[in-house]
Amino acid sequence: MNHTHSQPLIRLLTRLRDSRQVWNLMGSVYNKRIRAAIDGLYDRVAREVGETGLSLILDAGSGSGYVSFQLAQMNRQAMITGVDFASGQVQSALRLRRKKNLPHCAFIRANVLALPFQESHFDAAVSVGSIKHWPDGARGLREIHRVLKPGATLVLSETDQEASEQDLRRFIERFKIWFIPDRLLLWGLKNVVFGQSYSQEALARCVEQAGFRNIECLRVADCPYVIVKASK
Ligand SMILES: C[S@@+](CC[C@H](N)C(=O)[O-])C[C@H]1O[C@@H](n2cnc3c(N)ncnc32)[C@H](O)[C@@H]1O
Repeated sequence: MNHTHSQPLIRLLTRLRDSRQVWNLMGSVYNKRIRAAIDGLYDRVAREVGETGLSLILDAGSGSGYVSFQLAQMNRQAMITGVDFASGQVQSALRLRRKKNLPHCAFIRANVLALPFQESHFDAAVSVGSIKHWPDGARGLREIHRVLKPGATLVLSETDQEASEQDLRRFIERFKIWFIPDRLLLWGLKNVVFGQSYSQEALARCVEQAGFRNIECLRVADCPYVIVKASK
């Protein structure tokens, strides 16, 4: 497709990609496919938070709760709170929580840009694949910074804007959606998902500008996502 002519379509699809209604309708399709595609990433993000003992951990844009559950299994004494603005995603996480019998995870519907928590409430925060959907990523990060205690850890991961076509082809092998032909899926991932996301450098800069320090850039082998770790 001619690049100039496809720009309005890419802008429209990117708006749909970020809409709460679309997450309510299509979240379950995403949730079914993503686990197999980036399982190692959830594990890595949880391990970067580590064993925290009696602590409160925030999962911003928690979807069906995969990283929350990983954290909950590692931290039996912690309380993990997943926040998502789509009620369908919150319901899906609550169903999985019952199945997994992990009562120390809570899931609530809220916008990351206006978190319903007091200042300095959490000991750590994670977020996977969500910041690119926020209408103002910098504001969301300042909001997370506000609700974290001084010294608390943030582990943030997002699709890599600089992922190569080869990386995306490999990703599609694990993220097939039966009703979308591979060529169309590749175009969408390239132009609407990864293409409208963050490079590792841009994500690290945003994290720093939100007031975090000790910024580290990490990666997981064979996974086209970037990870930024920092502390308040
Ligand atoms: C790509 S999914 C990632 C879900 C989950 N973190 C995972 O890795 O499986 C993005 C999630 O962010 C949520 N989201 C997008 N914008 C949000 C916002 N402003 N506040 C809260 N959640 C948001 C969506 O509803 C969706 O569940």
